Amino acid sequence: MIDPEFLKAEAKKHDISEIEMEALTLAIEGYSTSEIAKKLEIKPDAVRQRLSKGYQKFQVKGSGPVKLRNLLQMLMSRYQEQGHQASTVDNSPSNISETKNNPPSEDLWEKPDVSVFYGRDEELKQLEELIVKEKAPLICLYGLPGIGKSYLVGKLVEQIKCDFDYVIWRSLSNRNQFSEVLEDLLRFMGSSETQKQAYEGISELIKHLRKHRCLVVLDNIEEIIREQDVYRRVKQGYEAYEILLQRIGREQHKSCLLINSHEKPGDINILESSTTPAVHSLQIYGLEKKDAKKILHGKGLTGKDEDVNQLIYYYEGNPLLLNLVSGLIIDVFSKDISKILTNTQLTLTTVEKYKEILRKLFQRLSELEADIIKIIGNIEKDVSFIYLAENIDKKYTPSKLPEAIQSLQARSLIEKIDKNEDEVFYTLRPMIKKYAKEYYS
Ligand SMILES: Nc1ncnc2c1ncn2[C@@H]1O[C@H](COP(=O)(O)OP(=O)(O)OP(=O)(O)O)[C@@H](O)[C@H]1O
Ligand SMILES: [Mg+2]
Repeated sequence: MIDPEFLKAEAKKHDISEIEMEALTLAIEGYSTSEIAKKLEIKPDAVRQRLSKGYQKFQVKGSGPVKLRNLLQMLMSRYQEQGHQASTVDNSPSNISETKNNPPSEDLWEKPDVSVFYGRDEELKQLEELIVKEKAPLICLYGLPGIGKSYLVGKLVEQIKCDFDYVIWRSLSNRNQFSEVLEDLLRFMGSSETQKQAYEGISELIKHLRKHRCLVVLDNIEEIIREQDVYRRVKQGYEAYEILLQRIGREQHKSCLLINSHEKPGDINILESSTTPAVHSLQIYGLEKKDAKKILHGKGLTGKDEDVNQLIYYYEGNPLLLNLVSGLIIDVFSKDISKILTNTQLTLTTVEKYKEILRKLFQRLSELEADIIKIIGNIEKDVSFIYLAENIDKKYTPSKLPEAIQSLQARSLIEKIDKNEDEVFYTLRPMIKKYAKEYYS
């Protein structure tokens, strides 16, 4: 890396304070904002402030990671002007893959800050294995809202980004027009031709994915999936995303596309079965009890062990739900979990905001899916396939039933129960069952 004495002298010339330079040096060494915050024991916002002052004083232009690249380039040319060897740092996009000891070029402004993160050891290990060792080209993480997909991938990205030349995170809840997202990706990868038509643009992107090792995260893919469609196809006008998934899943390259979604897109089902073992999907469930406890304790909540366990069980270890109910326990029950349980009965109404999220999920169901949920929701036991087939409205063609069940699994609403019998059984997740009764009453 760049000689520290040279950096110190440059900082002095530009009137950069010690704390600003400390943050800049860590950024140059490849640490992310949240990692710098952790190292310096300050808030990520304070890191951003220090970095932005540093860039200003160095008069570096550009935005996001481009700034860091421009700063590095500027420092490098000054370093060389002073008669030093040019063998230190060159982060220019064309040189990155050849000099892999360098930190990746990254654009992770949309990634969640995961400085408070618990558990997920198994999932992290499995994903790292798939991406770093097996070089999987396409992975889909799916699970209920708030279950922790973005956090998990955020943590993963911090752990594995050094394996890549380019790392970029985009959330489709911020912008989802394909042309804009593609243009963004191409520009980030240093392409001079960012204004291409969708199909040509995808070819241009694949060229980059072949030449460099890139990690692209597209979060909140559910934004572009059709409603009331058992095949979970992309919405009309968004078909280019389908082509992108197909090409990234099937063609030769050395990169990885990671997508997060409430529901597994139908295309992933097809790719998984036709490109084995390249394309993978991973369903994400709630946190383990010991890790969910850390969320509650981290907020200063106390309570009898059995009450803490009951709360976690009720909300199925869903970290968003635990955060929501924690706020209530802090404000109304003096941080005592036992008090909420003795004073009121836990219901989904306790976390009204999540009911709103579930309502939207239910509105996305096709008519047949909704009817299956109603049947399973009305029966206390697990429901067999045969029972479903016999009790579903006769207006549906029987052959449609398996696909509708598959779709409900892809939406994380029903679970298959293996009882080692000839028959297959299904059940609703407890929370979904409670909500289904209310929604369809
Ligand atoms: N492993 C974890 N450790 C600590 N907190 C977590 C963890 N995972 C998630 N959380 C908390 O739960 C919240 C919801 O998690 P996250 O945003 O990752 O869910 P999600 O599955 O991506 O939701 P959505 O589908 O709505 O995008 C986070 O804002 C964070 O506060
Ligand atoms: Mg998310």
